[in-house]
Amino acid sequence: MCEFAIMAAMCSNRGIGMNNKLPWPCIAKDYEYYTQKCSPTIKGKYTVVIKGRMTWESTKGLERTHPGYLNVIISHSKRDQLESDEYVNKVTDNLDTALIYANTLKQEGKCERVWVLGGQKVYDDAIHHPCCKKIYLTEIYKDFPSDTFFPPIPSCFKETGEAGVDPDIQEDNGLQFQFKVFTRTE
Ligand SMILES: NC(=O)c1ccc[n+]([C@@H]2O[C@H](COP(=O)([O-])OP(=O)(O)OC[C@H]3O[C@@H](n4cnc5c(N)ncnc54)[C@H](OP(=O)(O)O)[C@@H]3O)[C@@H](O)[C@H]2O)c1
Repeated sequence: MCEFAIMAAMCSNRGIGMNNKLPWPCIAKDYEYYTQKCSPTIKGKYTVVIKGRMTWESTKGLERTHPGYLNVIISHSKRDQLESDEYVNKVTDNLDTALIYANTLKQEGKCERVWVLGGQKVYDDAIHHPCCKKIYLTEIYKDFPSDTFFPPIPSCFKETGEAGVDPDIQEDNGLQFQFKVFTRTE
């Protein structure tokens, strides 16, 4: 299995979703950050993005069709439907199988990085996985009604920041937020 990072945004009450959408209005600056972080930087290599079925269903536009992404979707119940989706590269029924697939692509030299992009069910598994080395978490400093939540960050992760990630409080669309980076230390 290969190393991966989590990317997520949460509001002050740890919400990440509501009715299978984001709980907050569009934050273009956070979307830009997400796209910049997840896009491949090496020509000819892909980014493997792993998502739960609900998150895939909520995914729209460039996030779905980005030519640099290989979409791996976790699902038990809707495999057939997902397998016939032209933008889904692989359907697996758990995170480990998704990571084994990503590792094969890495060994073939096709994959640059692996991201786990939610939702709650998938974050719950991923955050405790020993191959999870980093968490990129945007903290939005406001409460929003939510029905899905980001799990507590295990104590083996420390907030380290990262070169190139602005640690200052950001502002967009009337919201304040911060890009945080946590790194596994053991
Ligand atoms: N703020 C953020 O950064 C962020 C990021 C991503 C998503 N979200 C939000 O999160 C919400 C969706 O989260 P969610 O928890 O409801 O759904 P989810 O994790 O996206 O998808 C859940 C589905 O994935 C499959 N699945 C996940 N783990 C599995 C496992 N261990 N074994 C088998 N199947 C598994 C199942 O699909 P089947 O039912 O098909 O079997 C399950 O119903 C949405 O509101 C979305 O907007 C927010």
